[in-house]
Amino acid sequence: MEPWGDRVAVVTGGGGGIGRAIAGRIVEAGGSVIIGDLNRDRGVEAVRGLGDRARFVPVDVADESDVEALMTAAVDSFGRLDALFNNAAIGGAFGPIVEQTVEAWDTTFAVNVRSVFLGTKHAARLMIEQGDGGAIVNTASVAGQSGGGGPQAYSATKAAVINLTQTTAAELAPHHIRVNAVCPGAIYTELMHRGRPEMADEWREEIQPWPERGEPEMIADVAMWLASDAARFVTGASVTADGGLMAAAPRLVDLDLAHLRRMTGIAYGNTGQEPEVRRL
Ligand SMILES: NC(=O)c1ccc[n+]([C@@H]2O[C@H](COP(=O)([O-])OP(=O)(O)OC[C@H]3O[C@@H](n4cnc5c(N)ncnc54)[C@H](O)[C@@H]3O)[C@@H](O)[C@H]2O)c1
Repeated sequence: MEPWGDRVAVVTGGGGGIGRAIAGRIVEAGGSVIIGDLNRDRGVEAVRGLGDRARFVPVDVADESDVEALMTAAVDSFGRLDALFNNAAIGGAFGPIVEQTVEAWDTTFAVNVRSVFLGTKHAARLMIEQGDGGAIVNTASVAGQSGGGGPQAYSATKAAVINLTQTTAAELAPHHIRVNAVCPGAIYTELMHRGRPEMADEWREEIQPWPERGEPEMIADVAMWLASDAARFVTGASVTADGGLMAAAPRLVDLDLAHLRRMTGIAYGNTGQEPEVRRL
């Protein structure tokens, strides 16, 4: 990790999970951080352990005046803004598409996508004014890279975040403001396990190739790299950190062909040649 010196960052959704891990890494690296979160108890608790280089500001990331005030808080508290981590999100609307309400759909987009627009807008304004560049890192998801990684609205919001990362990266490059996204796979946080911690182990055992469970710090390290000078020529990228989940997708062999794991050989498709099979 490149040293952060006296750099100042804002982390949305920093009250827990991945955002809290990012805030921890910023302070460890010598920087200062403003945590913005809707959950006051979580936010207060998160900054408690981080010392006087961390502040909590209660915000709704879907609200423009809240987001503008969050960016201003960085300047008021620590003198400037160098990096923004647009990380807050909700799982949002779920269930069969024929049952979903417009309200649940729109709320999911407001929290997960409008937030990234607003954060980028108000952070970029400050960074352009400062005149010496900056870094924005959006937390997207593997759910935005294909179907099947999350509920319909959630997946669509994350696909939108990946694309917004590209358009804003191109637009802000002349100002030396880099915009990138990290796409986590299954990371052990409350958002992921929704009160059923064993779910993380089921995922790991059944569909994630990498043996160890995904932890928030693994994503924080990627996000910090993207925001650091080591990634100074990286912009518009979406970096997948998922223990091989997407590399192995769609894993059809695991659905109903589990017996194939007990065999090896070669199948010649429709050529008329018989497959060669060896039992293990
Ligand atoms: N955990 C995973 O497996 C996983 C996988 C892929 C992507 N992600 C993404 O990572 C990011 C962080 O997720 P997490 O797993 O740490 O979740 P989390 O629920 O632990 O943390 C998210 C935080 O965002 C806050 N938040 C939600 N709505 C808000 C709002 N309107 N205004 C302000 N704050 C709000 C919550 O209060 C919470 O503290 C999200 O963007 C999520 O979509 C997570």
